[in-house]
Amino acid sequence: MEKWVVANWKMSGSKNLLDEYKKTFQNPKKLIVCPPSVYLNETTEFILGAQNIYHHPKGAYTGEISALMLNDIGIKYCIVGHSERRQYFEETNDMVLAKAEVCLKSSITPIICVGETFEQYQAGKTIEILSQQLRECLPNEGNFWVAYEPVWAIGTGCTPTTTEISTAHTFLREKLPEITLLYGGSVNESNAGAIFAIANVDGALVGGASLDIDKIHLIYQIAMTIKN
Ligand code: PGA
Repeated sequence: MEKWVVANWKMSGSKNLLDEYKKTFQNPKKLIVCPPSVYLNETTEFILGAQNIYHHPKGAYTGEISALMLNDIGIKYCIVGHSERRQYFEETNDMVLAKAEVCLKSSITPIICVGETFEQYQAGKTIEILSQQLRECLPNEGNFWVAYEPVWAIGTGCTPTTTEISTAHTFLREKLPEITLLYGGSVNESNAGAIFAIANVDGALVGGASLDIDKIHLIYQIAMTIKN
């Protein structure tokens, strides 16, 4: 089955890049593009998603945007709990859960990011950390997605082995039989085929490579050819 490609531009990209996406992707089947929020109110043939929202539905929180507002402009997906949010903005598991819940209340599917740090990976604690994050970050019910993103693989060019990704995703699938599971962390046009082929990987969250239209197009084409 074709795999999902979720492009996370982070605080990069431009109107020009959005135009390149519009030219390149006409009616793509499984593409969600998450640009900075200033570009969300655009008409595109692909699905637009947000990178973050505040965990309160509205109020005096200067500079923040809410799930209600995303819903107001027709946005249906939002990344929550990305490790950069946890690292630079001190987001805790509690906040990630609150963000996921406000998304669900506004009919937005949260894409909840989980994953271990390098120290935790080296100590063999990946499954333990994932299990704690699932307990603390996931709503009891509702239509959310989960992205397994080892912190040490993000933006580094390093990825876990396919066996390690498979072990993590098998664990996630056992806990979350019905949930869309993405892998993220240094996905590029060279490793995408091997990663998409892993059982229980339903797609990829792509950061750096999504800023290059040729690379993301290749990754998308690979995602469309996967059979398992
Ligand atoms: P990367 O980022 O592809 O640049 O490693 C992935 C992510 O942070 O979602």
